[in-house]
Amino acid sequence: MKQRDTEWWRRAVFYEIALISFQDSNGDGKGDLPGLLQRLDYLKWLGVDALWLTPIFRSPMLDLGYDIADFLAIDPAFGTMQDFDRLLDELHALDLHLILDLVPNHTSDQHEWFRESRSSRSNSKSDWYIWEGAGTHGGPPNNWLSRFGGSAWEWDATREQYYYHSFLVQQPDFNWRNPELRSAMLDVMRFWLRRGVDGFRVDASAVLIKDDLLRDNPPNPKADDKTPPPQRLEPVFTDDRRETMDCLEQMREVIDEFEDRVLCGEVQGKTDRIGHFYGSEKPRLHLPLNFALIDSRWDALSVQAAIDAYYKAIPDWAWPDWVIGGHDKKRMAGKIGQPQTRILAMLLLTLKGTAFFFAGDEIGMESVNIPPERVRDPFEKLVGGFGLNRDPERSPMRWDGSEKGGFTTGEPWLPMGNTSERNIDRQQKEPHSLLWLYRRLIELRHREPALTLGELLPSRSRNEVLIYRRRLDDIEIAIGLNLVHEPRRWEWEGAGTLLLSTHLDREEQTLSGPIFLRADEGVIVKLKR
Ligand code: GLC
Repeated sequence: MKQRDTEWWRRAVFYEIALISFQDSNGDGKGDLPGLLQRLDYLKWLGVDALWLTPIFRSPMLDLGYDIADFLAIDPAFGTMQDFDRLLDELHALDLHLILDLVPNHTSDQHEWFRESRSSRSNSKSDWYIWEGAGTHGGPPNNWLSRFGGSAWEWDATREQYYYHSFLVQQPDFNWRNPELRSAMLDVMRFWLRRGVDGFRVDASAVLIKDDLLRDNPPNPKADDKTPPPQRLEPVFTDDRRETMDCLEQMREVIDEFEDRVLCGEVQGKTDRIGHFYGSEKPRLHLPLNFALIDSRWDALSVQAAIDAYYKAIPDWAWPDWVIGGHDKKRMAGKIGQPQTRILAMLLLTLKGTAFFFAGDEIGMESVNIPPERVRDPFEKLVGGFGLNRDPERSPMRWDGSEKGGFTTGEPWLPMGNTSERNIDRQQKEPHSLLWLYRRLIELRHREPALTLGELLPSRSRNEVLIYRRRLDDIEIAIGLNLVHEPRRWEWEGAGTLLLSTHLDREEQTLSGPIFLRADEGVIVKLKR
C-alpha cells in the first residue's frame, strides 16, 4: 500500500490550467479533457505536483465556466465523466494531485435550482437565492453594485422581487443563510471528493454572505474618474463578512471528512485581510491564495516589503503560499519584462510556501492583444475602457511555433498572439530557456527539503539585490536575486556551492565572499558548514 502523505500540499507546486485554453482535441477551438490527457507527459516532464482546473462543469460559459448550470456534470464541450475519471486515474498514477474550482457563491441562471427558485415565492427552493422587494422609493433594495457593472439587483417579473448577483445578471448569488442550500453545496463537495479529487480552490470565498440588514456600501474615498464604476463604493457590507467565515469552517469540516485533501480559496484584496481566512479555533482554508507578488512594485525593496507584510499578516502556524499568475491576473512577464521572469521563477520556487503559477508562465507568455471584435470577457464588455479585460492572459497555450500553436486545428477561441516567439517546443529544445529554468528549479525544490519545509530567514536587501536564506536542521541555503538589468555585487561573507543560477550556466561553482551577479541574475547557494 502506498504511504500516506498528509501534507503533500505544503511542498507542492500547483499549476493552474484554464482547460478551455490548454489543448483542444476535436478541432472546436477550445481546450478539453482529452486534450489535457494528451499533455500529461509534458506536465510530468515539467515536474509540477498538482493541477488546479478552472470550472469544467456544465455551463453556458458566459464567464469562463464560472456560471455553472450543473455542479455534478462535465460540460460536453470539455468531455465526459469518463474522461474526467480517466484524467484523475492517470494523474494519480503519475503522483500528481488534482483540485477543482468550487464556485459556491452563485450559479448560472440556467441552473435548475435557480429556475425553481424564480418560479414562485413559495417553491421549495424559493429561499436558496437572495430575493428582496423593491427599496422604499421603488427600484433596487439598496446601492450594492455588481462587480461586472450596474446594480447588483435584477428585477424578476414572475416573483415581483429583485434577486442579487455579485457578478453577471446571469449569475444569481446563493443565500448561504439557508441551511438546505448549505447542505446541498456541502454535498456537491462530497460528490467530487468521493470521486477522488484532492481538494478545491473556492471561488469568491470572501463574499458568500452579505449583510442581513442590507446596509448601503459607503463611497470609496480613493475613487476618482479613473476608477471603474463598480469599485467606486467600498464593499464593506458585501465582502468579507464574519458569517462568511462560518461557511468556510463548514467546508473545511467536509474536507476533513476525507484523507489528505486541501482547501484553497480566492481571497481578493489586501494582504492584511488574509490571516483570518486560515481560521483560529476552527480551521478554515488551508491556503488562502496570496497575490502579494503580483500586486507588488517590482524592485528589491518593494518586493522585500511585500514578502514581509505577508508573513506578518498570517498566523505563526499558518502555511504560506505564493501565486504569480492566474486567469484573472495580467501576465507578470508584461509587467516586469522578460529578463526578470527568471528572477520571478526563482523567487516563487524558493520562498517558503506552496507555489502556484498559471499555464504559460513557464515560457514567459505575455498578455495577448485582443481586438475589440474578439473580446469574450464579460468584464471588458460591461465595464470597458478601464483595462479590466482578462482575455489577454487567457490566450491559449502555445505548444509549438505554428500559426495555431499546436493548440487546435480549428479556430482558437481567443487570438493566439505570436506563437513563434515563445512556445513549449522551442524552449524545450533550448537548455537555457525559461522553461528549463522552471524545470530545474522544481527539481531542485524536490531534492532540497530546506527549500520547501525550511524556515525562511530574511536578510537585509541592498544594492537592488533581494536576499534571504532557507534553513532546515543543519542545511542552509542562501538566495540572492538581482532585480535590475545591470550587474550588482551581493555583499556576502559566506562560502558555499552554487546550486543554480537563473542563467543555468554555473552550477557546482564554489563561491566565497561577495558574489558578482550579472544583469537579471539570481543564484541559489548552499552554505558550507
Ligand atoms: C472569481 C473568478 C473569476 C470570475 C468570478 C465570478 O473571481 O476567478 O474569473 O469571473 O469569480 O465567478
